[in-house]
Amino acid sequence: MSVPLSGKTIVLGVTGSIAAFKAPLIVTRLVGQGATVIVIMTENATRFVTPLTFETLSGNEVIVGMFPDAKKGVASLEEAASGSERLKHVHLAEATDLAIIAPATANIIGKMANGVADDFLSTELVAMTCPVIVAPAMNVRMMESDAVRANVETLKARGVIFAEAEVGRLASGAVGKGRLADTESIVGTALGLLLPKQDLAGRRILVSAGPTREPVDPVRFIGNRSSGKMGYALAERALRRGADVVLVSGPSSLNPPDGAEYVSVETTEEMLHAVMKSFMDADLLIMAAAPADYRPARPSEVKIKKTTEELTLELVRTEDILSQVVSARREGQGVVGFALETSAEVEEGRRKLIDKDLDIVVVNNPLIEGAGFDTGTNVAVILTRSGRENELARMPKADLADVILTEAISELGWDRRR
Ligand code: CTP
Repeated sequence: MSVPLSGKTIVLGVTGSIAAFKAPLIVTRLVGQGATVIVIMTENATRFVTPLTFETLSGNEVIVGMFPDAKKGVASLEEAASGSERLKHVHLAEATDLAIIAPATANIIGKMANGVADDFLSTELVAMTCPVIVAPAMNVRMMESDAVRANVETLKARGVIFAEAEVGRLASGAVGKGRLADTESIVGTALGLLLPKQDLAGRRILVSAGPTREPVDPVRFIGNRSSGKMGYALAERALRRGADVVLVSGPSSLNPPDGAEYVSVETTEEMLHAVMKSFMDADLLIMAAAPADYRPARPSEVKIKKTTEELTLELVRTEDILSQVVSARREGQGVVGFALETSAEVEEGRRKLIDKDLDIVVVNNPLIEGAGFDTGTNVAVILTRSGRENELARMPKADLADVILTEAISELGWDRRR
């Protein structure tokens, strides 16, 4: 059975509105999709639904009020969340992938907009950096008041997602906007946020990663500082977006992502053969590797002894993998290259794009802080054959991987036709 949300932790904040009686349905749906759901209730919410209801449905202790209550036997957050292995010893705000506030009263919306942290739920919300969905439910006059509208606008501007209240008959008997959004649509919004789009389904993507090692003798080699992080992030993101992925990697300490076909290589020549072999049935090659450009002309078969004061190594050029690939490519196959430049980056990148006949070049300058080898982040400019120039701020390599894949989809027209 597939459980799309397995491994995801969702906090459901329930506040004091009559619509709280619908919140258990949200818990049931999310748990059914494999999520770990931790319910945090305000004191007022417990007047409408009992914590026991949520505890039974979520399988986790429910957190109520200001702090986890020692009297109820919940001594700490970790204990409250002890149903989830993932949450043990980890602070809830850090472990949460998504927070949903449903129903959200005017009070919690006001607190969120103003950073008020006077009970457990509002405190967690200030500390959270994950996406937040707010599903308001209140009297129409409150909903349309200047204060609530201003608070909603503030939160939207901060990126909070609203599951808009519906127009209908309210608890007060009045008819107007203020009824909690349909629980299915709240769950749908949550799924849309947590599940990556499968926009690479049916595509075969070949990624090269890491450095190569060119032997000097049986114990020494010429290599470079590439860690493989960018290529591994590309392989991981492509897999999540539904692609079949082949990862051809030089020596790296990273674990290949689950589900990738992994080919381990050592030298540029081995990488060339592995890439050419897999390229035949790939839709896209992303050459994120840093293959050595030169190799010792005559590697010694025995360890070189230090018998002389000086040692000169003769180096010869290795094959350029990209140019071999490009000359073998079929119609419709995409090729993305990287360009490491320390000056005139965009001009050099554009020249490489044209000279090497690539669809996309990702240019980065390793001298910029937060870019280049062995960092978790990168600063890049993406250049496309069609003339786009996308200058990106510093971002984690996983996020850059997503941007590169999205640019490739658009440049190759995969979003327009199949
Ligand atoms: N590349 C390759 N084969 C090689 C070396 C590099 O296919 N033997 C690929 C890299 O994977 C990268 C791209 O070429 O995608 C650009 O690498 P870079 O070192 O920036 O540029 P070069 O083409 O080697 O040019 P130069 O040394 O002049 O900067």
